[in-house]
Amino acid sequence: MCYNVLDRHVKEGKLGEKVAYYWEGNSPDHHMTITYRQLLSHVCRCANVLKQMGVKRGDRVSIYLPMIPELIVTMLACARIGAVHSIVFAGFSSESLCERIMDAQSSVLVTAGKLLQHQTYAICLDVTCCCTRSCKMKLRDVWWDEVMRDSPDECEPEWMDAEDPLFILYTSGSTGKPKGVVHTVAGYLLYTSLTFRYVFDHHPDDVYWCTADIGWITGHSYITYGPLANGATSVLFEGLPVHPHVGRFWEIIEKYKVTKFYTAPTAIRLLMKYGQEPLRKYDLSSLRILGTVGEPINPEAWRWYHEVVGQGRCPVVDTFWQTETHLTSNPDFIFQTFPFFGVEPAILNEHGEELEGVTEGYLVFRKPWPGIMRTIYKNQELFENTYFRKFPGFYVTGDGCRRDKDGYYWITGRIDDMLNVSGHLMSTAEVEAALMLHQSVSEAAVVSRPHKVKGECLYCFVTLKDRKNSDQSAVFIFSVREKIGPIATPDFIQNAPALPKTRSGKIMRRILRQIARNEKDLGDLSTLADPKVVEVLFNQRSEAA
Ligand code: PRX
Repeated sequence: MCYNVLDRHVKEGKLGEKVAYYWEGNSPDHHMTITYRQLLSHVCRCANVLKQMGVKRGDRVSIYLPMIPELIVTMLACARIGAVHSIVFAGFSSESLCERIMDAQSSVLVTAGKLLQHQTYAICLDVTCCCTRSCKMKLRDVWWDEVMRDSPDECEPEWMDAEDPLFILYTSGSTGKPKGVVHTVAGYLLYTSLTFRYVFDHHPDDVYWCTADIGWITGHSYITYGPLANGATSVLFEGLPVHPHVGRFWEIIEKYKVTKFYTAPTAIRLLMKYGQEPLRKYDLSSLRILGTVGEPINPEAWRWYHEVVGQGRCPVVDTFWQTETHLTSNPDFIFQTFPFFGVEPAILNEHGEELEGVTEGYLVFRKPWPGIMRTIYKNQELFENTYFRKFPGFYVTGDGCRRDKDGYYWITGRIDDMLNVSGHLMSTAEVEAALMLHQSVSEAAVVSRPHKVKGECLYCFVTLKDRKNSDQSAVFIFSVREKIGPIATPDFIQNAPALPKTRSGKIMRRILRQIARNEKDLGDLSTLADPKVVEVLFNQRSEAA
């Protein structure tokens, strides 16, 4: 992998002086340019540091860094020596990090001052130490700058087999425990490389910008591996779309003359709120193709993206895929999708029967392709049960889908217990478990509610042990943020004296969803143990967090 994305370009392709990344920091005053030759040199140094620390082929390395060049350097250094990287999104809490380090049994954590409460970056051994809030540098920990300075900048790559693991990336599981999705070297290289080239119609003089965080699969595939495999020039942005002003995205597009721009509907909806004024100040004429990913895009956001950002002349590619599946759709002017080469979707009904023509049902895939996940780390059984059990012979995406008369696939959203908040997938069970950790909570149920910017948001019903307790919404919100991270911040907390349950004690989430959305027509409530609960919950609906 590392040879293909770096050495090949520098040594064979004469791209050594080509810019691999324009790094743009959170503050507009911080920026730098990294060429392919410089990147190769940093990666070799880092690979030698990791080797020096005892990391060998097949060992796991956890990475918990913001969007800085060191993140890309470390992931490629792992690939170079055959170590398996496990990147944890820097917006996750230290507890979430800890859970992922333990599952992957990483021997090294590469992290930034944010976690260790130091100013500079550190590589620290004995990762379990880093999980506590009182963590201090241990003797065995090392400073990035020091070890990198003393490290040689040549390192022969470790030659890997096609099916060797490249990385683990954790994604939410419906049981609430994150699943370590495993991708392998050759299939992932092939699919990131091909989809990048064809979906975004890559040309050598392009400047490509994917605004995702590398902590998610989109960043792995379309900031690191896909662009580098194609010898592309990308923008790597550390900051937020609205800092220090709401035109920051457009300013960056103008500054680097970005030609291909890939972002999420939630970002588009956020920026739409500020109107067209912030865009008018900048020259966006370099743009040629726009991409969207992470959640279904609503028609209003799509139109704004196409007409205001793309000035009506840029195709919008809607790319549906998952941490587990590496595929994207074809470019088109409309916001539905066609499958990529090698991908054979089908739509099934509840009984697993295949539906033909214009229809709606469960989106599944008929056969695997090289870029699909291979297993869940250390849990092949969970892998089989999660993706292949419901409909034998098919890979189950967990998404609903509609096929129209022209054969386009429209993703309608998750049809399992998953939520998509600002393009971040999470399970209701995960948030419920975080709420239940609080000593005053006896029961919790979490459902989704539509949200103007985030797409979906979290609406939580909480039953307290002591019914007389006063409103503790703020405390619960804080504890969910502490446990999972700010991305899981609940928008609504409703005190629920009781939850609607069937006679066998199962929580009726359909009803809770309707209460959260204020949909009064509840249909048949006869299976409920105590239908009066519903009325009480309706009367006490929460309109604010
Ligand atoms: O529900 C689908 C939604 O995001 C889920 C996958 O999330 P994750 O593994 O975090 O990967 C996100 C980035 C690839 C899917 O099951 N999703 C992703 N892209 C789209 C989408 N829903 C509709 N349209 C999309 N383009």
